[in-house]
Amino acid sequence: MSKNLFIETLGCAMNSRDSEHIIAQLSEKENYTLTDDLASADLILINTCSVREKPVSKLFSELGVFNKKKKDGAKIGVCGCTASHLGEEIIKRAPYVSFVLGARNVSKITDVLHREKAVEIDINYDESEFAFDDFRTSPYKAFINISMGCDKSCTYCIVPKTRGDEISIPDELIIREATRAVKGGAKEVFLLGQNVNNYGRRFSGEHEKVNFSELLRRLSLIDGLERIRFTSPHPFHMDDEFIEEFARNPKICKSMHMPLQSGSTKVLKDMKRGYSKEWFLERVEKLRSVCPEVSISTDIIVAFPGESDEDFADTIDVMKRVRFDQIFSFKYSPRPETEAEHFTNTVDEDVASFRLTSLQNLNTEILDEINATSLGKIYRVYFEDLNKDYFVSGRSDNNIVIKVKGSDELLGEFRDVKITAIGRTILTGEVVA
Ligand code: 5AD
Ligand code: SF4
Repeated sequence: MSKNLFIETLGCAMNSRDSEHIIAQLSEKENYTLTDDLASADLILINTCSVREKPVSKLFSELGVFNKKKKDGAKIGVCGCTASHLGEEIIKRAPYVSFVLGARNVSKITDVLHREKAVEIDINYDESEFAFDDFRTSPYKAFINISMGCDKSCTYCIVPKTRGDEISIPDELIIREATRAVKGGAKEVFLLGQNVNNYGRRFSGEHEKVNFSELLRRLSLIDGLERIRFTSPHPFHMDDEFIEEFARNPKICKSMHMPLQSGSTKVLKDMKRGYSKEWFLERVEKLRSVCPEVSISTDIIVAFPGESDEDFADTIDVMKRVRFDQIFSFKYSPRPETEAEHFTNTVDEDVASFRLTSLQNLNTEILDEINATSLGKIYRVYFEDLNKDYFVSGRSDNNIVIKVKGSDELLGEFRDVKITAIGRTILTGEVVA
């Protein structure tokens, strides 16, 4: 008899893909069916994120709610990055939790399910060649892991402690997965890794040298695959070969995520990012010179320990020069087992809040100016989502979210759309061809 699975996914796209793998294993091997009704679930999973403190503290209050609402006999499991990082402590603090399954141990889901109080959190467990069953949330776009873990040592970041050392998935497996997704109707693939443009540095076994640019070239030969996206590249590894392949290859979508973190060379050094303000600006210039239509998004952390007013002014300076198309901005949050956790020159909370607000206000101003230039322009949109009120939405090649009046006939289709109205996060248009 079929059982019900409720799963909540927090954090990044890698976590979303891990959840798809968990769902695939549970439905193929254990006969589970997805539900969004917690009270009817036989198994409740939370796939957690630990990148900042907030989601971690939320976990225990959420677990308490789940425990109250669950039906008798239902199991609760905690997966993902906070599972890797807290391990057994989760069961100590929430004894009704049945098992803890760390990121990078996803393939063990069908095992821990049957071992009460199991804790599987080996951060270097090698899943790079594991043949997961197939489950995709969207038939139009396929998320595909190309590597796991991260070899960098950014001083603020907990990820190397939750996802372990970097290991690349063999290109033939990635190509096989992409080909299967395309046969299943996806015209777009979204490649995932902590540091995608460092692809090929290490494989599980002996493997021919294939770097990220070469992987992109090989993937783009797949018939029927029309769009390739990826996240996240690292500015340090943005060499000319990569930028030129990005610009030249028509299947690669012209939107680049360039996580700046800080515009101050001094702070970047303290963060151990491996590049300077000048290097970052020079890479943006190079990218825009070979690919003028590219849209650039970024991540910024404000109030890292030791960040002075001058350092913050450097971040604002980079914002004004680059004019990012999208930013994800955060206040620095000290994380356990990181180098910066021990830095004592912390920035006052009110200064941190002021800096975050000024940065976000500047971004809104810039975005309004950029968006205003879109009115009347025509974009090629790949439609993926059916919204309420008879709208269908999708993305332009350079990652702008655009909606038009329409029905599910547009899903999975490309159309030229002329922009008729501007919003902050979404543009409205009409299909012209
Ligand atoms: N505090 C605040 N933001 C962080 N990020 C990573 N670690 C921290 C931290 N300790 C941000 C970075 C990263 C994004 C995924 O999360 O900007 O690029
Ligand atoms: Fe993703 Fe990092 Fe959060 Fe883990 S800690 S879910 S890798 S963002």
